[in-house]
This record gives sequence, structure tokens and C-alpha cells, in this order.
Amino acid sequence: MIGQTQYFRDTWAEIDLDALYQNVKTIRDGLPQETNLFAAVKANAYGHGDFQIAKEALKAGAHGLVVALLDEALALRQKGIKAPILVLGLIRPTDAVIAARHHISVPVFQVQWLKEASQAMEGGEPPLKIHVKCDTGMGRIGLKHEEELKEIEQFIQNTAGFEFEGIFTHFSTADQASEEYYQKQLAVFKKFVSVLETVPKYVHAANSAGALCHDDSLFNAVRVGIALYGLCTSQERPTFNKGKQIFSLHTRIVHVKKIQPGECIGYGAAYQAEKEEWIATIPVGYADGWLRKLEGQSVIADGQRADIVGRICMDQTMVRLPHFIPIGTKVTLIGGQETGDFITVEEIAEKLETINYEVTCTINFRVPRIYKRGGQQVEVENKLFLGL
Ligand SMILES: Cc1ncc(COP(=O)(O)O)c(C=O)c1O
Repeated sequence: MIGQTQYFRDTWAEIDLDALYQNVKTIRDGLPQETNLFAAVKANAYGHGDFQIAKEALKAGAHGLVVALLDEALALRQKGIKAPILVLGLIRPTDAVIAARHHISVPVFQVQWLKEASQAMEGGEPPLKIHVKCDTGMGRIGLKHEEELKEIEQFIQNTAGFEFEGIFTHFSTADQASEEYYQKQLAVFKKFVSVLETVPKYVHAANSAGALCHDDSLFNAVRVGIALYGLCTSQERPTFNKGKQIFSLHTRIVHVKKIQPGECIGYGAAYQAEKEEWIATIPVGYADGWLRKLEGQSVIADGQRADIVGRICMDQTMVRLPHFIPIGTKVTLIGGQETGDFITVEEIAEKLETINYEVTCTINFRVPRIYKRGGQQVEVENKLFLGL
């Protein structure tokens, strides 16, 4: 439910819509006029909330959206998004009719798929918009030979019900310092495009790293995800200009106690105090995506760093405070407080030995999302319940 304003737990994620707008605008302004910006809002906009992010990104200059699943595209249509939407993952040919009916573009790389989709079409729906996917080296989905591309082009030309709207590929090393593999993929893709009788409306290859680091990858559209969210797409490429992180995660202390030397905390009694200590409990745990591996990570409580001690529980976590801090005090797990200290998504990713993408995607929708503009709350999404 959109516009949901109620939630009853003291753990929430904040999304800074002003920063998102600025990030999108900066990326848009950095692209040539003719390059269409598609905002990647799959996986609930990398955990930020697809509908709110889609609306803001489109307002800030994105031309369209990309998602991974037909269900994600349909959910956005259902909420009133009218902009072009491309599904990146393969859909069932029997579902082609649903995609066509809702003006959702889909990837294709096999004539067999088109034949099955053609049989499943009912006849009265608008043409299904096809983006032909080329596998130039990612090894995931896509055609690999020019003959397959020509066959698909001809099939679409000769068969009612389809529109050849785009051709695309995906780079696997655009974020790396070495150019070699990237250049190979680019050359293969250019060759694919060159054998087409008619070049379709959209030709696209670049993700964030491509769009920000490789001018030769832009064609006339780019699919940008991670950079919208102000997260670093590439540690290796010095040309990359990071935006502002729009995601933060907060909670409040629900219990504080002083423990004595020798007293233990949490499952397995894995933490034992060496001296008298103040321990706070915060209502967030691995069931929210605040994973057990974050034991030992610091949080910001009352402007100061404090370490997580003991094993992280399913719904609660314990923190060793520098001194007594009262119940109700805001604790920041990702992002900053007024004092200036800041926990980046990358800091959490490093602790988790993973990439920043996985961090925001992992904070699940048991945690309400609060959308802010000018520092003020403008929307709340709480997927747990539909209100009283
Ligand atoms: C095919 C495709 N295009 C674009 C993107 C967006 O990538 P990024 O978030 O690195 O910009 C992804 C993300 O995984 C993708 O799979």
C-alpha cells in the first residue's frame, strides 16, 4: 500500500529523495542529449522501494525504467507508472500477452521463444516490444551468433504482433581498471548492431560503471542502477564521481543495563564483559537483513561509535555503549547523525565481505521505508500490514 503512514516499530530506513533527485540529475546532465537514461529499479529499487524511486527518477530526467521480472514491471504499471519499462530477465513466452497488454518491453534471444509467444498471443493486444539480448561475454542470457540475430530480425519483420524496439548487451567488467575484456565485449556488440537491416529505437549496453566510466559504451540508452542510489560503482576507476548515498538505517534503544565483569551477552554466551559496561538492546536483527556477520560492527549512538557485542539475534541486537545512554535514543546503523560521523553502505559491505548492492537489497521490507524531502517525511511504505 502506498502512502501508508503507520508503523509500530522503532527501526526504519530513510530514503533521501532530494539526494536521489540530485544523483539522477547529475548523471542525466553528464550524458549526451540523445542518450536515454533508464533507471534500474529492479529488486524494489535495490531495496529502496521501487515505486517512490521510479517516480522521483522519472521526475529528475530518467526516460524509462528497467526491472528484472515481469511481476515487478506489472506492479509499477498497477501503481500508475506510464514510462517505458524493460524487463531484463527472460519471461515465459506464454506471458507475452500480458507484457504486450501493459506496454512492457521484454528481452528475446531465441526464435523459438518468439514462435511460442506468437502462438500464445490473442490478437487484439498491442504489439509486444522486443529488445534482442546479445551475450557478448557475460555468459548469462543472450544470443551469441550473428545468424541468430538475423533470424530473429526476419521473424519479427514477417510476423504480426511484435515490434523490434531495442538491442542490448551487458558488460561484466565495466567497473574494472583493465579495459581488455570490456573492449572485447564492446567490439562484439558493435558487430551485432552492424549486421542489422534496421537499427531499432534503443541500442544499449552500459550499466552505471559503463555510463560513468566509458563514453564509448553509451549508444543511445544506458541502464543505471547503483549510481542512482549514490553508491560507488567502481573502486577501481578513478574517473568515477560518486553521488550522495540516499539510504540510511536507524533504530532506537529499547533497553539499557549495566553489566558486571564476567557477565555474558547473547546466544552462546559468546561475549563476556571484562569490566563494568553499559549494554543497550536495539530492535533489529538478522530477520531484517541485519546479518549475524555484523557482530563487532560499530553503530552510531548519540553521535558516538558503539560496537555490537554478542551474536546478532533474529530481531534484536546488543550494543556496548561508551556511557549510559537513555532508552529512546536514536541509533544509526547505516548513514549519519547530526554530529557528522557517517557509516557508508560500503563500510557495511566490507564487514559482510560483499558488495554494496547486496547490503541495501538485504535490508528487507520488515523494515519500513520513510521517504524524506527537505528533511521532512513525505511518504512511508510499510509492507507488513495495510493499516488499522
Ligand atoms: C542487465 C543489467 N543492466 C543494468 C544493470 C544495472 O547495473 P548497475 O546497478 O551496476 O548500474 C543491471 C544490474 O545488475 C543489469 O543486470
